[in-house]
Amino acid sequence: MIERWSVAGAEARVGEGVQGLVVTIDGPAGSGKSTVARRVAERLGCGVLDTGALYRTVTLLALERGIALSDAPALARLLDDFPWRQEGERFFLGEREITDDIRTADVTAHVSEVSAHPEVRARLVPVQRAQAAHRALVAEGRDMGTVVFPDARHQFYLDADLEVRARRRADEMAKKGAAADVEKLRADLRERDRKDSSRAASPLQVPEDATVIDTTDLSIEEVVDRILADIESGRQ
Ligand code: DC
Repeated sequence: MIERWSVAGAEARVGEGVQGLVVTIDGPAGSGKSTVARRVAERLGCGVLDTGALYRTVTLLALERGIALSDAPALARLLDDFPWRQEGERFFLGEREITDDIRTADVTAHVSEVSAHPEVRARLVPVQRAQAAHRALVAEGRDMGTVVFPDARHQFYLDADLEVRARRRADEMAKKGAAADVEKLRADLRERDRKDSSRAASPLQVPEDATVIDTTDLSIEEVVDRILADIESGRQ
């Protein structure tokens, strides 16, 4: 039985197909996607999927097990052993919680290389689609509207100035008590954007049907309100 949206205008009709129940949010690192996606999902009363966390999990396992980051077939098998799941802000692989482990500087530095392999992406696409099989979902990442859920009715793309994205990352780190070098964060974000946008397999792009929101001067709540207003009004 398909769940129904609680928001007017976004209500799915039975038979419309599961992707009609998906909200996609794409954009570069630091554009606010993860936080916005979680809040939108809370307000809609539906599931949330952080697909960057999936690519980070493969990277974490590869680093821990000493798998070469160029060995695409071996990387693609890494998620075969344990079920992966997201519970709100927390991530699990089987019984192991990996929430903090997938956010280390080491994982962040290598995740673009891992996620560039078509074999890895092909392995993860069904995992992502399965999350939307029985429930409404807000899915965020780099290729949600272009590749994973191209028929999703509600598609958004968040962007923000590099400077602001670097500051946001620094603030997040400061909240966790970690020292942050804004210069270095800015350089790392620029490099990750370059790699994620220029790779051959599912590069970061604005989906054709997406509403683009520049979050540079907006608060998280303003972005969330804008997305919900667009969905309710039928503009998205
Ligand atoms: O959103 P994030 O920073 O946690 O994502 C980590 C990396 O994963 C990002 O640099 C590119 C990759 N990624 C991807 O290739 N496709 C997605 N749908 C999500 C993330």
